[in-house]
Amino acid sequence: MKMINDRPIGMFDSGFGGLTVARALIDMMPSENLVYIGDTGRYPYGNKSADDVRNFALEIANSLVHDFNVKMIVVACNTAASVALKELQQTLSVPVIGVIEPGVRALLRVTRNKKVGVIGTVGTISSGAYDQAITATKSQVKLTSAACPGFVEFVERDQTTGDEVAALAEKLLAPVRDSGVDALLLGCTHYPYLSNVISEVMGLDVTLVNSADETAAAVGEALVASQTARDTTANSLGAHEFYSSGDVKHFALLGRRFLGPELAAAKFWQKSSGQ
Ligand code: DGL
Repeated sequence: MKMINDRPIGMFDSGFGGLTVARALIDMMPSENLVYIGDTGRYPYGNKSADDVRNFALEIANSLVHDFNVKMIVVACNTAASVALKELQQTLSVPVIGVIEPGVRALLRVTRNKKVGVIGTVGTISSGAYDQAITATKSQVKLTSAACPGFVEFVERDQTTGDEVAALAEKLLAPVRDSGVDALLLGCTHYPYLSNVISEVMGLDVTLVNSADETAAAVGEALVASQTARDTTANSLGAHEFYSSGDVKHFALLGRRFLGPELAAAKFWQKSSGQ
């Protein structure tokens, strides 16, 4: 039986996007063990019904608890967090951290003119989760949000530059740019891979904010608060395991390009028979 501190942190996303959060977590807490599940067999989540996404999130989170004995869960997907975070926090036996509140904190820190933007999947934006999170902070900012259907598919195809994605970005982001925001939150964990294209459209005066670092910091704080951080005095690097519900070879190949050498291999994940 592993000591709780040595148990892994569990993380999931619909695919590759959550790897932006995994990268930040590995960099910030290299000794923590990590299990990552990319649900590429069922991605994208952004155009699915809230009920479907909620069920996927519950299945994966339960598998992380029961099959992998994780000590904490990071929902590294805005779409899943926007519809399932509360339920996961209420029903699971381990702490659950999402990406929405950390992202909002980072966004409010950088804005100067108090006009901010959020972009995300259709599911995330239509859930209103960002409007609620910003209202909860009681800060007097004007929020302009936009759904960006198609962005995730470009990332999953590894097509992060070129005329096609640039034309789509111009079409989807122009209204946000024209509203005069000075800070734009990438409210989908896939979008940091499109930072260059997004920045081209928004202009250099607009600061792009992604939730990865702030989420990793929130995980660090929660580990300290629950006294479950792994002992770093032994100076040992954590083990990092990656799973995909789709083509594992493709996941490992493209995932390694996105995350780096820690993603040496990927294994197949399927929901446990008990669920
Ligand atoms: N990366 C996810 C998010 O943050 C989901 C993208 C998708 O599957 O549509 O919303």
